Amino acid sequence: MSQLNGGLVDFSQSSLYFSALAIAFNPTFWNIIARQEYHNKTLTRLFNGNSLRACYALALTIFGLGLFRDALYERALRHQPFIPAFHHPYIAYVLLTIGNTLVLTSYYALGLTGTFLGDYFGILMDEPVTGFPFNVTSAPMYWGSTTSFLGTSLLYGRPAGALLTIQVFVVYLAALQFEDPFTSKIYAKRDKEEKEEKKAK
Ligand SMILES: *[C@@H]1O[C@H](CO)[C@@H](O)[C@H](O)[C@H]1NC(C)=O
Ligand SMILES: *[C@@H]1O[C@H](CO)[C@@H](O)[C@H](O)[C@H]1NC(C)=O
Repeated sequence: MSQLNGGLVDFSQSSLYFSALAIAFNPTFWNIIARQEYHNKTLTRLFNGNSLRACYALALTIFGLGLFRDALYERALRHQPFIPAFHHPYIAYVLLTIGNTLVLTSYYALGLTGTFLGDYFGILMDEPVTGFPFNVTSAPMYWGSTTSFLGTSLLYGRPAGALLTIQVFVVYLAALQFEDPFTSKIYAKRDKEEKEEKKAK
């Protein structure tokens, strides 16, 4: 065991890989489902044409997967070597407060359908949200979550958590490259249609 050799991360723990798998799986899952919905109304069909109900179902699923991922992360941390030099509860609380504030205020600003991919269901927001926390960062949900992952690793004193946090960061960065242009396209299409409607009147 690398732990006994003074290693910072114990790579022999399968819980580490389960956690990494969940971190990679979640955004992949919701992007595949959301694009299916956008192109073919797959979820809306499943809910007899009720887009709102379909979006709520996806929201609940994504939320549940998020809780599961967090549980796997904490379990992975408990299986890892405790490194006193990496144990910083006060910094951890600051990071957790910042992270959770960003996540919770962006839920509040976007609402349920805005948070959980409503635009892919044709449930669009009237105007882009520009107030806090979106005036601090363009993706407060993702960067808040990443900050909380880092905070948790410092709370537990497990460097393995920092490694998984880097993975979270990379996964969200990749997700944004994929999601942002698509969302912009959805809204550009709506704006164009609205303009044409006005012209027709
Ligand atoms: C969309 O879904 C319908 C019904 O399930 C199916 O017949 C059709 O082939 C699908 N189209 C695409 C592009 O996936
Ligand atoms: C962001 O907006 C809030 C109000 O919604 C404001 O109080 C805050 O100062 C703004 N922050 C920045 C960095 O602009």
